[in-house]
Amino acid sequence: MNNSTRKSLLLSWFVALSVLLVLSLTNCEGPEGPAGPAGADGTHGSDGTDITEAACLTCHNNDVIIEKRYELNMHDHATMANSLSRGGREGCGRCHSHENFRNYVETGADMSLETVTGLTCKSCHTLHDTSEVDSFSFGLVVDTSEVDFLTGGTETFGDGHPANLCITCHQPRRDYSAYDTTPTVGTDSVSITSSHAGPHYGMNGSLIFGKGADDRNGTVALNQGPMAHASAGCVSCHMGANSNHEFHPSVDNCESCHAGASDFDINGAATAMHDAIVAIEAELVAIGWYEDDGEGGISSLASSSAPLEMSGVEYTAFRNYNVLHADHGSIYHNPPYVKAIINNIEENLGLSLTSW
Ligand code: HEC
Ligand code: HEC
Ligand code: HEC
Ligand code: HEC
Ligand code: HEC
Ligand code: HEC
Repeated sequence: MNNSTRKSLLLSWFVALSVLLVLSLTNCEGPEGPAGPAGADGTHGSDGTDITEAACLTCHNNDVIIEKRYELNMHDHATMANSLSRGGREGCGRCHSHENFRNYVETGADMSLETVTGLTCKSCHTLHDTSEVDSFSFGLVVDTSEVDFLTGGTETFGDGHPANLCITCHQPRRDYSAYDTTPTVGTDSVSITSSHAGPHYGMNGSLIFGKGADDRNGTVALNQGPMAHASAGCVSCHMGANSNHEFHPSVDNCESCHAGASDFDINGAATAMHDAIVAIEAELVAIGWYEDDGEGGISSLASSSAPLEMSGVEYTAFRNYNVLHADHGSIYHNPPYVKAIINNIEENLGLSLTSW
């Protein structure tokens, strides 16, 4: 066995031991989760800090950590299943990794540490951040009054609101002017050279406030005023009273406003919006901007060698379809706004308008 193998063996024993240490000091009741990612380097244990101090036992003595760890492991946040490879890239890492997110929160800089992991408890919670043991807590690392947006300006769910954490990452990266800078002109010519053209997948953070669609063409009024679902924030629908860390919305979380709801399809409105979007997608395929992806969706045909050429009016429809596409929960996040956006797309594509 050479020296470096021995070292790495020792290291893995150390990691295994520190994981065991944490596990043995927590009560092992509660649901048994899949194995978590290897533990961090165990600084507190090895530097002589006694984890059995009363102040540590307030957390390291019950099944809360195990329960939340189990829930978090069920969610893509823990693995960044679709995007961890972008976690070490400049311009991406602050939303796609634990390390670069914490750097962003602490310094405001978009660092690009290249060796990264998915989100862990310390991505979102202050936990062991201070040397003052008595002030360790599950406080959130983002509890600001306002969140800076990459598209300019700020958004907020209110001073210190927990959902401000979510929109630090779940926010769009590009406004409509990224592709068409000429305001209010429907006849200009726009060239789309990227299959990723659009706001990026964090659109939820703008859409919920009724913002982000291109309203320069079309007669349908997009501005619907303040929306009820923004007052719910992300956390109350996606986590609920028991702070569920699977981040999957539950019908129970709708009932405070939609009494007696048995599914998400309140008044059949979600189905109506979904069907209208499917009809729009069929038209986008017919125009030749997209093709059927064979999995119930469509994929863009834009590339630098074969750009999509469109008028300003068509661009508005294209942009607004991508606003909906970039928020996988759009039909729930802001129903009045999304109905207006659908009508705007229909109008700009010359389709008949869905009536709600
Ligand atoms: C506010 C709750 C809380 C308190 C108080 C707390 N911890 Fe933790 N600790 C956690 C959580 C949560 C984790 C991460 C568990 C996971 O990732 O599954 C953790 C992880 C650890 C780990 C594993 C390595 C790491 O840093 O992630 C060590 C070691 C540790 N804590 C030591 C201590 C010691 C020592 C104290 C007291 C000085 C203490 N903790 C107090 C919540 C707490
Ligand atoms: C402001 C935060 C932010 C930045 C910056 C960012 N992303 Fe994302 N990205 C997200 C969020 C949030 C999601 C997931 C949203 C969802 O699943 O609905 C996501 C999803 C993705 C996905 C998964 C798409 C899928 O189909 O599931 C990929 C791939 C991705 N991003 C690549 C990138 C790349 C490459 C960059 C840098 C050029 C980048 N992201 C920059 C927030 C960001
Ligand atoms: C993506 C961000 C995120 C991650 C990752 C995360 N949490 Fe949370 N956690 C939250 C939010 C948001 C809340 C709700 C806070 C609120 O409502 O004020 C919360 C609440 C909690 C609460 C309830 C706190 C209270 O005061 O009632 C506990 C306990 C908790 N988290 C533990 C954990 C543990 C343990 C982990 C790691 C296994 C973890 N969290 C990972 C975002 C996160
Ligand atoms: C550090 C940035 C970050 C923070 C903070 C964050 N998210 Fe995410 N979230 C992401 C990324 C990136 C993804 C996509 C992960 C992947 O699949 O690669 C994602 C995925 C999701 C998904 C699942 C999408 C799917 O396809 O299954 C939901 C739901 C979600 N986040 C909700 C929330 C909520 C609610 C909060 C606030 C409590 C929050 N997120 C905080 C970055 C973040
Ligand atoms: C009114 C309740 C509600 C609010 C508020 C809300 N969501 Fe959602 N969200 C939903 C529902 C319902 C779905 C669809 C879930 C499904 O299809 O299983 C969803 C879907 C999503 C998805 C896609 C999940 C997936 O599996 O693809 C993401 C990401 C997401 N929401 C993030 C957020 C973020 C970030 C916020 C805050 C800006 C937020 N949501 C606010 C109810 C809500
Ligand atoms: C804070 C109260 C509140 C919560 C919580 C809430 N909603 Fe709503 N919802 C409303 C109001 C008010 C409307 C009417 C339109 C508006 O003002 O946004 C509405 C409208 C809707 C619509 C459109 C109905 C229609 O007839 O057009 C759907 C779908 C919907 N909500 C789904 C959900 C789901 C799913 C949840 C839980 C995951 C949820 N809502 C949680 C208040 C709420």
